[in-house]
Amino acid sequence: MFNRIRFLTAGESHGQSLTVLLDGLPAGLSLSESYIGQQMSRRQLGYGRGGRQLIEKDWALITSGVRHGFTLGSPISMSIENKDWVNWTKVMSISKIDEEIKRVTRLRPGHADLPGTMKYGYDDVRNVLERASARETAARVAGGAVARRLLEHFGVEINSHSLSIGGVWASVSGPIDWAIVEKSPVRCVDEKAGKQMMMAIDDAKEMGDTVGGVVEVVAEGLPIGLGSHVQWDQKIDGRIAQALMSIHATKAVSIGDGWESVNRRGSQVHDVIEPVKDPTNSWIRKTNRSGGTEGGMTTGSALVARFAIKPISTLKNPLPSVDLDSGDLVQAHYERSDVCQVPPAGVIGEAMLSLVLADAFLEKFGGDSIAEISRNFEGYQKTVRPRNM
Ligand SMILES: Cc1cc2nc3c(=O)[nH]c(=O)nc-3n(C[C@H](O)[C@H](O)[C@H](O)COP(=O)(O)O)c2cc1C
Repeated sequence: MFNRIRFLTAGESHGQSLTVLLDGLPAGLSLSESYIGQQMSRRQLGYGRGGRQLIEKDWALITSGVRHGFTLGSPISMSIENKDWVNWTKVMSISKIDEEIKRVTRLRPGHADLPGTMKYGYDDVRNVLERASARETAARVAGGAVARRLLEHFGVEINSHSLSIGGVWASVSGPIDWAIVEKSPVRCVDEKAGKQMMMAIDDAKEMGDTVGGVVEVVAEGLPIGLGSHVQWDQKIDGRIAQALMSIHATKAVSIGDGWESVNRRGSQVHDVIEPVKDPTNSWIRKTNRSGGTEGGMTTGSALVARFAIKPISTLKNPLPSVDLDSGDLVQAHYERSDVCQVPPAGVIGEAMLSLVLADAFLEKFGGDSIAEISRNFEGYQKTVRPRNM
Protein backbone atom coordinates (compact mmCIF):
# COMPACT_ATOMS: atom_id res chain seq x y z
CA MET A 1 0.00 0.00 0.00
CA PHE A 2 2.89 2.35 0.74
CA ASN A 3 5.47 3.24 -1.91
CA ARG A 4 8.01 5.22 0.09
CA ILE A 5 7.25 4.48 3.71
CA ARG A 6 7.46 1.12 5.40
CA PHE A 7 5.34 0.86 8.52
CA LEU A 8 4.99 -2.11 10.83
CA THR A 9 3.62 -2.59 14.33
CA ALA A 10 4.13 -5.47 16.77
CA GLY A 11 2.80 -6.34 20.18
CA GLU A 12 0.00 -8.07 22.05
CA SER A 13 -2.67 -6.20 23.98
CA HIS A 14 -1.44 -7.43 27.38
CA GLY A 15 2.16 -8.10 26.36
CA GLN A 16 5.08 -6.10 27.67
CA SER A 17 5.01 -3.41 25.00
CA LEU A 18 4.05 -2.38 21.49
CA THR A 19 6.74 -1.76 18.90
CA VAL A 20 6.60 0.62 15.93
CA LEU A 21 8.95 0.50 12.96
CA LEU A 22 8.80 3.33 10.45
CA ASP A 23 11.20 3.50 7.54
CA GLY A 24 11.49 5.92 4.61
CA LEU A 25 11.11 9.26 6.39
CA PRO A 26 13.60 11.95 5.31
CA ALA A 27 16.40 13.43 7.40
CA GLY A 28 16.05 16.82 9.05
CA LEU A 29 12.45 16.74 10.27
CA SER A 30 12.10 18.10 13.78
CA LEU A 31 10.48 15.47 16.00
CA SER A 32 10.06 14.91 19.73
CA GLU A 33 8.49 12.32 21.99
CA SER A 34 6.21 14.97 23.44
CA TYR A 35 4.83 15.77 19.95
CA ILE A 36 3.99 12.09 19.49
CA GLY A 37 2.72 11.91 23.08
CA GLN A 38 0.11 14.58 22.37
CA GLN A 39 -1.45 12.40 19.68
CA MET A 40 -1.24 9.31 21.87
CA SER A 41 -3.15 10.97 24.68
CA ARG A 42 -5.85 12.16 22.25
CA ARG A 43 -6.45 8.48 21.37
CA GLN A 44 -6.97 7.61 25.03
CA LEU A 45 -9.76 10.13 25.63
CA GLY A 46 -13.42 9.74 24.77
CA TYR A 47 -16.72 8.97 26.40
CA GLY A 48 -17.60 5.27 26.50
CA ARG A 49 -14.17 3.79 26.96
CA GLY A 50 -13.48 0.91 29.33
CA GLY A 51 -11.18 0.67 32.37
CA ARG A 52 -8.02 -0.01 30.33
CA GLN A 53 -7.50 3.68 29.59
CA LEU A 54 -7.34 4.42 33.32
CA ILE A 55 -4.41 2.03 33.64
CA GLU A 56 -2.44 3.10 30.56
CA LYS A 57 -0.66 6.42 30.07
CA ASP A 58 0.62 5.91 26.57
CA TRP A 59 4.04 7.22 25.68
CA ALA A 60 6.15 6.26 22.67
CA LEU A 61 9.80 5.98 23.55
CA ILE A 62 11.87 6.73 20.45
CA THR A 63 14.65 4.14 20.29
CA SER A 64 16.26 4.97 16.95
CA GLY A 65 16.18 7.27 13.93
CA VAL A 66 16.18 10.62 15.76
CA ARG A 67 19.14 12.62 17.08
CA HIS A 68 19.15 16.01 18.81
CA GLY A 69 15.50 16.52 17.93
CA PHE A 70 15.76 15.78 14.19
CA THR A 71 15.14 12.66 12.12
CA LEU A 72 18.24 11.02 10.67
CA GLY A 73 16.66 9.42 7.61
CA SER A 74 17.33 6.04 9.20
CA PRO A 75 14.51 3.76 10.42
CA ILE A 76 12.54 5.20 13.33
CA SER A 77 11.67 2.68 16.01
CA MET A 78 9.47 3.29 19.03
CA SER A 79 8.40 1.31 22.05
CA ILE A 80 5.13 1.79 23.93
CA GLU A 81 4.94 0.19 27.34
CA ASN A 82 1.76 -1.66 28.33
CA LYS A 83 1.34 -0.66 31.96
CA ASP A 84 -1.29 -3.40 32.39
CA TRP A 85 1.34 -6.06 31.55
CA VAL A 86 2.40 -6.40 35.21
CA ASN A 87 -1.02 -7.94 35.86
CA TRP A 88 -0.59 -10.40 32.98
CA THR A 89 3.00 -11.64 33.30
CA LYS A 90 1.95 -15.27 33.75
CA VAL A 91 -0.87 -15.27 31.21
CA MET A 92 1.38 -13.58 28.64
CA SER A 93 4.69 -15.18 29.64
CA ILE A 94 7.14 -15.43 26.74
CA SER A 95 8.73 -18.57 28.18
CA LYS A 96 6.88 -21.79 28.89
CA ILE A 97 5.46 -21.93 32.41
CA ASP A 98 4.37 -24.93 34.46
CA GLU A 99 1.29 -23.30 35.97
CA GLU A 100 -1.91 -23.99 34.09
CA ILE A 101 -3.39 -20.84 32.53
CA LYS A 102 -7.13 -20.70 32.02
CA ARG A 103 -7.86 -20.85 28.30
CA VAL A 104 -10.45 -18.68 26.55
CA THR A 105 -12.83 -21.00 24.68
CA ARG A 106 -16.11 -19.08 24.52
CA LEU A 107 -16.05 -17.54 21.04
CA ARG A 108 -17.23 -13.94 20.60
CA PRO A 109 -19.29 -13.36 17.46
CA GLY A 110 -18.02 -10.26 15.64
CA HIS A 111 -14.44 -10.54 16.87
CA ALA A 112 -11.46 -12.38 15.35
CA ASP A 113 -11.96 -15.33 17.73
CA LEU A 114 -13.47 -18.04 15.52
CA PRO A 115 -11.71 -17.43 12.18
CA GLY A 116 -8.37 -16.70 13.91
CA THR A 117 -8.49 -19.80 16.12
CA MET A 118 -9.38 -22.05 13.19
CA LYS A 119 -6.82 -20.46 10.85
CA TYR A 120 -3.89 -20.80 13.27
CA GLY A 121 -5.01 -24.09 14.82
CA TYR A 122 -5.11 -22.86 18.44
CA ASP A 123 -6.88 -24.32 21.46
CA ASP A 124 -6.89 -20.92 23.22
CA VAL A 125 -8.67 -17.89 21.76
CA ARG A 126 -6.31 -15.61 23.71
CA ASN A 127 -3.60 -16.39 21.13
CA VAL A 128 -5.78 -14.53 18.60
CA LEU A 129 -7.55 -11.89 20.65
CA GLU A 130 -4.35 -10.41 22.07
CA ARG A 131 -3.15 -9.26 18.66
CA ALA A 132 -6.60 -8.66 17.15
CA SER A 133 -7.28 -6.17 19.94
CA ALA A 134 -7.38 -2.49 19.02
CA ARG A 135 -4.67 -1.85 21.60
CA GLU A 136 -2.51 -2.08 18.45
CA THR A 137 -3.91 1.28 17.37
CA ALA A 138 -1.71 2.99 19.97
CA ALA A 139 1.22 1.98 17.75
CA ARG A 140 -0.58 3.27 14.65
CA VAL A 141 -1.13 6.63 16.31
CA ALA A 142 2.57 6.85 17.23
CA GLY A 143 3.62 6.07 13.64
CA GLY A 144 0.93 8.35 12.27
CA ALA A 145 2.20 11.20 14.44
CA VAL A 146 5.56 11.09 12.66
CA ALA A 147 3.79 11.19 9.29
CA ARG A 148 1.62 14.06 10.56
CA ARG A 149 4.78 15.98 11.58
CA LEU A 150 6.08 15.72 8.00
CA LEU A 151 2.80 16.90 6.49
CA GLU A 152 2.51 19.69 9.05
CA HIS A 153 5.97 20.91 8.01
CA PHE A 154 4.52 21.46 4.53
CA GLY A 155 1.34 23.17 5.75
CA VAL A 156 -1.05 20.22 5.88
CA GLU A 157 -3.43 19.97 8.86
CA ILE A 158 -5.36 16.83 9.76
CA ASN A 159 -8.44 16.64 12.00
CA SER A 160 -11.44 14.43 12.63
CA HIS A 161 -14.85 14.51 14.26
CA SER A 162 -17.69 12.16 15.11
CA LEU A 163 -20.63 12.50 12.73
CA SER A 164 -22.82 9.94 14.42
CA ILE A 165 -22.87 7.72 17.50
CA GLY A 166 -25.56 5.20 18.41
CA GLY A 167 -27.90 6.53 15.72
CA VAL A 168 -27.60 10.20 16.80
CA TRP A 169 -26.35 12.40 13.95
CA ALA A 170 -24.53 15.71 14.33
CA SER A 171 -25.85 18.68 12.40
CA VAL A 172 -22.80 20.13 10.63
CA SER A 173 -22.80 23.24 8.48
CA GLY A 174 -19.94 25.47 7.41
CA PRO A 175 -16.33 25.19 8.52
CA ILE A 176 -15.78 23.00 11.57
CA ASP A 177 -14.42 24.59 14.75
CA TRP A 178 -11.83 21.96 15.68
CA ALA A 179 -11.33 23.46 19.15
CA ILE A 180 -14.96 22.54 19.99
CA VAL A 181 -14.38 19.00 18.72
CA GLU A 182 -11.27 18.59 20.87
CA LYS A 183 -13.19 19.66 23.98
CA SER A 184 -16.16 17.39 23.31
CA PRO A 185 -16.04 14.00 25.15
CA VAL A 186 -17.46 12.38 22.01
CA ARG A 187 -15.46 14.57 19.56
CA CYS A 188 -18.66 16.09 18.14
CA VAL A 189 -18.89 19.67 16.90
CA ASP A 190 -22.67 19.82 17.48
CA GLU A 191 -22.93 20.20 21.26
CA LYS A 192 -26.61 19.24 21.45
CA ALA A 193 -26.06 16.07 19.41
CA GLY A 194 -22.95 15.37 21.49
CA LYS A 195 -25.05 15.24 24.65
CA GLN A 196 -27.52 12.87 22.97
CA MET A 197 -24.61 10.70 21.83
CA MET A 198 -23.44 10.42 25.44
CA MET A 199 -26.97 9.44 26.47
CA ALA A 200 -26.98 6.76 23.75
CA ILE A 201 -23.67 5.44 25.14
CA ASP A 202 -25.07 5.46 28.71
CA ASP A 203 -28.21 3.63 27.59
CA ALA A 204 -26.19 0.96 25.80
CA LYS A 205 -23.88 0.56 28.81
CA GLU A 206 -26.83 0.07 31.12
CA MET A 207 -28.10 -2.71 28.88
CA GLY A 208 -24.67 -4.36 28.73
CA ASP A 209 -24.58 -3.41 25.05
CA THR A 210 -22.41 -1.28 22.71
CA VAL A 211 -22.83 1.41 20.01
CA GLY A 212 -20.95 2.37 16.83
CA GLY A 213 -21.03 5.39 14.55
CA VAL A 214 -19.47 7.37 11.73
CA VAL A 215 -16.24 9.38 11.81
CA GLU A 216 -15.07 12.01 9.34
CA VAL A 217 -11.36 12.75 8.79
CA VAL A 218 -10.26 15.93 7.03
CA ALA A 219 -6.85 16.94 5.63
CA GLU A 220 -6.47 20.59 4.64
CA GLY A 221 -3.61 22.28 2.80
CA LEU A 222 -2.73 19.43 0.44
CA PRO A 223 -1.15 20.12 -2.95
CA ILE A 224 -2.83 19.03 -6.18
CA GLY A 225 -1.65 15.71 -7.57
CA LEU A 226 -0.82 13.29 -4.75
CA GLY A 227 -1.56 9.73 -5.92
CA SER A 228 -2.02 8.89 -9.58
CA HIS A 229 -4.59 7.89 -12.20
CA VAL A 230 -2.13 5.66 -14.07
CA GLN A 231 -2.43 2.42 -12.13
CA TRP A 232 -5.16 1.01 -9.86
CA ASP A 233 -2.94 0.62 -6.84
CA GLN A 234 -1.61 4.18 -7.08
CA LYS A 235 -4.99 5.87 -6.70
CA ILE A 236 -5.04 7.97 -3.56
CA ASP A 237 -8.72 7.30 -2.81
CA GLY A 238 -8.13 3.55 -2.96
CA ARG A 239 -5.09 3.84 -0.72
CA ILE A 240 -7.02 5.91 1.82
CA ALA A 241 -9.92 3.45 1.72
CA GLN A 242 -7.62 0.53 2.58
CA ALA A 243 -5.92 2.40 5.39
CA LEU A 244 -9.21 3.45 7.00
CA MET A 245 -10.88 0.08 6.41
CA SER A 246 -7.99 -1.60 8.22
CA ILE A 247 -8.98 0.14 11.46
CA HIS A 248 -10.57 -2.38 13.80
CA ALA A 249 -14.37 -2.58 13.45
CA THR A 250 -14.52 -0.33 10.37
CA LYS A 251 -17.14 -1.61 7.97
CA ALA A 252 -17.51 1.14 5.33
CA VAL A 253 -15.43 3.99 3.92
CA SER A 254 -16.53 6.85 1.67
CA ILE A 255 -14.85 9.90 0.17
CA GLY A 256 -16.58 13.28 -0.09
CA ASP A 257 -20.33 13.02 -0.65
CA GLY A 258 -19.85 9.28 -1.29
CA TRP A 259 -23.12 7.41 -0.82
CA GLU A 260 -25.24 10.60 -0.93
CA SER A 261 -24.01 11.58 -4.37
CA VAL A 262 -25.60 8.58 -6.11
CA ASN A 263 -29.11 10.01 -5.72
CA ARG A 264 -28.23 13.35 -7.33
CA ARG A 265 -27.72 14.41 -10.93
CA GLY A 266 -24.21 15.04 -12.20
CA SER A 267 -24.72 18.79 -12.17
CA GLN A 268 -25.27 18.52 -8.41
CA VAL A 269 -22.27 16.29 -7.77
CA HIS A 270 -19.21 17.76 -9.48
CA ASP A 271 -17.14 20.71 -8.28
CA VAL A 272 -17.15 23.65 -10.70
CA ILE A 273 -13.64 25.02 -11.46
CA GLU A 274 -13.47 28.77 -10.88
CA PRO A 275 -11.64 31.21 -13.17
CA VAL A 276 -8.16 32.04 -11.87
CA LYS A 277 -7.77 35.77 -11.20
CA ASP A 278 -4.75 35.80 -8.94
CA PRO A 279 -1.72 33.97 -10.38
CA THR A 280 -0.28 33.44 -6.90
CA ASN A 281 -3.35 31.39 -5.99
CA SER A 282 -3.76 27.78 -7.00
CA TRP A 283 -6.91 26.44 -8.65
CA ILE A 284 -10.18 27.02 -6.80
CA ARG A 285 -13.43 25.02 -6.77
CA LYS A 286 -16.91 26.35 -6.03
CA THR A 287 -17.67 23.31 -3.86
CA ASN A 288 -15.85 20.26 -2.52
CA ARG A 289 -18.35 17.46 -3.00
CA SER A 290 -15.64 15.17 -4.35
CA GLY A 291 -13.91 15.21 -0.94
CA GLY A 292 -10.66 16.36 -2.50
CA THR A 293 -9.92 13.56 -4.99
CA GLU A 294 -10.46 13.21 -8.74
CA GLY A 295 -8.99 10.42 -10.86
CA GLY A 296 -7.15 8.99 -7.89
CA MET A 297 -5.30 12.27 -7.23
CA THR A 298 -5.73 15.04 -4.71
CA THR A 299 -7.45 18.13 -6.10
CA GLY A 300 -5.97 20.62 -3.64
CA SER A 301 -9.34 20.94 -1.86
CA ALA A 302 -9.72 19.44 1.60
CA LEU A 303 -9.50 15.67 1.62
CA VAL A 304 -12.67 14.45 3.36
CA ALA A 305 -13.23 10.78 4.13
CA ARG A 306 -15.75 9.02 6.34
CA PHE A 307 -15.64 5.62 7.91
CA ALA A 308 -18.30 3.60 9.69
CA ILE A 309 -17.46 1.84 12.94
CA LYS A 310 -19.60 -1.11 14.00
CA PRO A 311 -20.53 -1.48 17.68
CA ILE A 312 -17.98 -3.40 19.77
CA SER A 313 -18.54 -7.14 19.84
CA THR A 314 -17.47 -7.85 23.43
CA LEU A 315 -20.77 -7.45 25.27
CA LYS A 316 -21.31 -7.34 29.01
CA ASN A 317 -24.65 -8.95 28.25
CA PRO A 318 -23.13 -11.51 25.88
CA LEU A 319 -24.67 -13.01 22.77
CA PRO A 320 -25.24 -16.74 22.70
CA SER A 321 -22.28 -18.56 21.26
CA VAL A 322 -20.48 -21.88 21.21
CA ASP A 323 -17.61 -23.35 23.21
CA LEU A 324 -14.46 -24.04 21.18
CA ASP A 325 -13.88 -27.43 22.87
CA SER A 326 -17.33 -28.95 23.20
CA GLY A 327 -19.30 -27.15 20.48
CA ASP A 328 -22.03 -26.61 23.11
CA LEU A 329 -24.16 -23.53 23.54
CA VAL A 330 -22.53 -20.99 25.93
CA GLN A 331 -22.50 -17.23 26.49
CA ALA A 332 -19.74 -15.43 24.57
CA HIS A 333 -16.56 -14.50 26.47
CA TYR A 334 -16.54 -11.12 28.24
CA GLU A 335 -13.54 -9.24 29.53
CA ARG A 336 -13.17 -5.54 30.31
CA SER A 337 -14.16 -3.68 27.17
CA ASP A 338 -15.17 -0.34 25.68
CA VAL A 339 -18.84 0.53 25.16
CA CYS A 340 -18.14 2.96 22.30
CA GLN A 341 -14.89 3.39 20.38
CA VAL A 342 -16.00 6.08 17.92
CA PRO A 343 -14.17 9.03 19.59
CA PRO A 344 -10.72 7.34 19.62
CA ALA A 345 -11.36 5.96 16.13
CA GLY A 346 -11.22 9.55 14.84
CA VAL A 347 -7.68 9.97 16.14
CA ILE A 348 -6.70 6.59 14.68
CA GLY A 349 -8.25 7.60 11.34
CA GLU A 350 -6.15 10.76 11.38
CA ALA A 351 -3.04 8.63 11.93
CA MET A 352 -3.83 6.28 9.06
CA LEU A 353 -4.70 9.18 6.75
CA SER A 354 -1.42 10.88 7.74
CA LEU A 355 0.58 7.78 6.83
CA VAL A 356 -1.05 7.45 3.40
CA LEU A 357 -0.72 11.15 2.59
CA ALA A 358 2.88 11.36 3.84
CA ASP A 359 3.75 8.37 1.68
CA ALA A 360 2.11 9.97 -1.38
CA PHE A 361 3.80 13.28 -0.56
CA LEU A 362 7.23 11.63 -0.44
CA GLU A 363 6.50 9.79 -3.67
CA LYS A 364 5.74 13.10 -5.42
CA PHE A 365 8.42 15.30 -3.86
CA GLY A 366 10.83 12.56 -2.72
CA GLY A 367 14.26 13.37 -1.43
CA ASP A 368 16.55 12.29 1.36
CA SER A 369 16.28 15.45 3.43
CA ILE A 370 13.64 18.03 4.28
CA ALA A 371 15.72 20.63 2.41
CA GLU A 372 15.67 18.56 -0.78
CA ILE A 373 11.94 17.83 -0.49
CA SER A 374 11.26 21.54 0.11
CA ARG A 375 13.04 22.45 -3.15
CA ASN A 376 10.99 19.89 -5.08
CA PHE A 377 7.76 20.97 -3.41
CA GLU A 378 8.26 24.69 -3.96
CA GLY A 379 9.34 24.19 -7.57
CA TYR A 380 6.23 22.13 -8.30
CA GLN A 381 3.85 24.52 -6.57
CA LYS A 382 4.99 27.30 -8.96
CA THR A 383 3.75 25.21 -11.90
CA VAL A 384 0.25 24.59 -10.50
CA ARG A 385 -1.70 27.33 -12.35
CA PRO A 386 -3.03 28.09 -15.86
CA ARG A 387 -0.27 27.56 -18.41
CA ASN A 388 -0.03 31.15 -19.64
CA MET A 389 -0.19 32.88 -16.28
C1 LIG B 1 -10.27 2.31 19.36
C2 LIG B 1 -10.92 0.97 19.31
C3 LIG B 1 -11.19 0.31 20.49
C4 LIG B 1 -11.79 -0.93 20.49
N1 LIG B 1 -12.06 -1.52 21.67
C5 LIG B 1 -12.65 -2.74 21.69
C6 LIG B 1 -12.98 -3.37 22.92
O1 LIG B 1 -12.74 -2.82 24.01
N2 LIG B 1 -13.55 -4.58 22.86
C7 LIG B 1 -13.84 -5.21 21.69
O2 LIG B 1 -14.37 -6.31 21.69
N3 LIG B 1 -13.58 -4.63 20.51
C8 LIG B 1 -12.98 -3.42 20.47
N4 LIG B 1 -12.71 -2.82 19.27
C9 LIG B 1 -13.09 -3.50 18.03
C10 LIG B 1 -12.31 -4.77 17.74
O3 LIG B 1 -10.93 -4.57 17.83
C11 LIG B 1 -12.70 -5.36 16.39
O4 LIG B 1 -14.08 -5.48 16.29
C12 LIG B 1 -12.07 -6.73 16.20
O5 LIG B 1 -10.68 -6.57 16.06
C13 LIG B 1 -12.60 -7.51 15.00
O6 LIG B 1 -12.33 -6.85 13.81
P1 LIG B 1 -13.49 -6.36 12.81
O7 LIG B 1 -14.54 -5.78 13.68
O8 LIG B 1 -12.85 -5.31 11.96
O9 LIG B 1 -13.98 -7.54 12.04
C14 LIG B 1 -12.11 -1.56 19.24
C15 LIG B 1 -11.82 -0.89 18.06
C16 LIG B 1 -11.24 0.35 18.07
C17 LIG B 1 -10.96 1.06 16.78
